[in-house]
Amino acid sequence: MNRRAEPEIMNGYKQVKAYAKADFNGPNQMFVDLFGENFPLFSSGRVLDLGCGPADIPLRFAGRYEQCRVVAMDGAERMLEFGRRNIAAQGMVERVKLVHGVLPHCELPENHFSAIISNSLLHHLLDPLALWQAISYCGKKDAAVLVMDLFRPSSETAARRIVEKYAAGEPEILREDFYNSLLAAYTEAEVRAQLDRIGLSNLQVRQVSDRHFAVVGLL
Ligand SMILES: C[S@@+](CC[C@H](N)C(=O)[O-])C[C@H]1O[C@@H](n2cnc3c(N)ncnc32)[C@H](O)[C@@H]1O
Repeated sequence: MNRRAEPEIMNGYKQVKAYAKADFNGPNQMFVDLFGENFPLFSSGRVLDLGCGPADIPLRFAGRYEQCRVVAMDGAERMLEFGRRNIAAQGMVERVKLVHGVLPHCELPENHFSAIISNSLLHHLLDPLALWQAISYCGKKDAAVLVMDLFRPSSETAARRIVEKYAAGEPEILREDFYNSLLAAYTEAEVRAQLDRIGLSNLQVRQVSDRHFAVVGLL
C-alpha cells in the first residue's frame, strides 16, 4: 500500500483534547522500557524528546531517570498547553522544559544532548529526513537514540483491523487519527533507507510490536 500523508502539526482543539486524554500507557511505557533495555548504563544527562505531544513520555522518562533533565519539543502550541499542565501536576517543572519548534527548523543547540528520543513523530513528517537531521545535529557523540513509530500495514483492511484491535472503545476522532497515522507511517525498509541516506547507518531498525518499529543505537 502506498503511503498517504497526514497533516504534520496536531493543533485542532478536539483532536488534541482527545489525544491528551487517551490512554497510551501501553506503548508509552513500552517506549521507556525499551530505552532501559537498550541503554542499561544510561542514568544522567540532557535528554531531548522530539514531537513530545502532551509530554507523557518526557514525564515517564524524568520519573525513571532522576538525574536527567528533559527538553521536550513540539510544533503544536495546544499540545504544549496540555503538556504544561501535566508537568505542573506532577511537580516536574524544574526537570521537564517545553519548547515550541517545527522541524525542519531546528533552533535547538548543536551537539548538546546525551539522549534523543521520539515517539510517533516520524509518520507525520513530509520530509522524514528532518527528524534524522535534527537528531544528528543536536546529539552529542555517542548519544543514545530511540525513535519508535507505527509501521505502515500492507492494506487499508489491515489498518482497520489494527484500529479495531487497539482502539475499539475510543472516540471516533481518535480512531480516525489512528487510522490516518497507520496509512501515513513509513515501512521499516523506508526507514532503513532514510538512515543510510543521512549517514546514520549504524542505527538499527527492528520491529518491536505488531504495529511498531524502533530505531536504536548510539550516534
Ligand atoms: C502522534 S503525536 C505523538 C506525541 C508524543 N510523542 C506521544 O508519544 O504521545 C505527534 C506529535 O508530533 C508533532 N509534530 C508533527 N509534526 C511536527 C513537526 N514538523 N515539528 C514538530 N512537531 C511536530 C505533533 O504536533 C504531535 O504533537
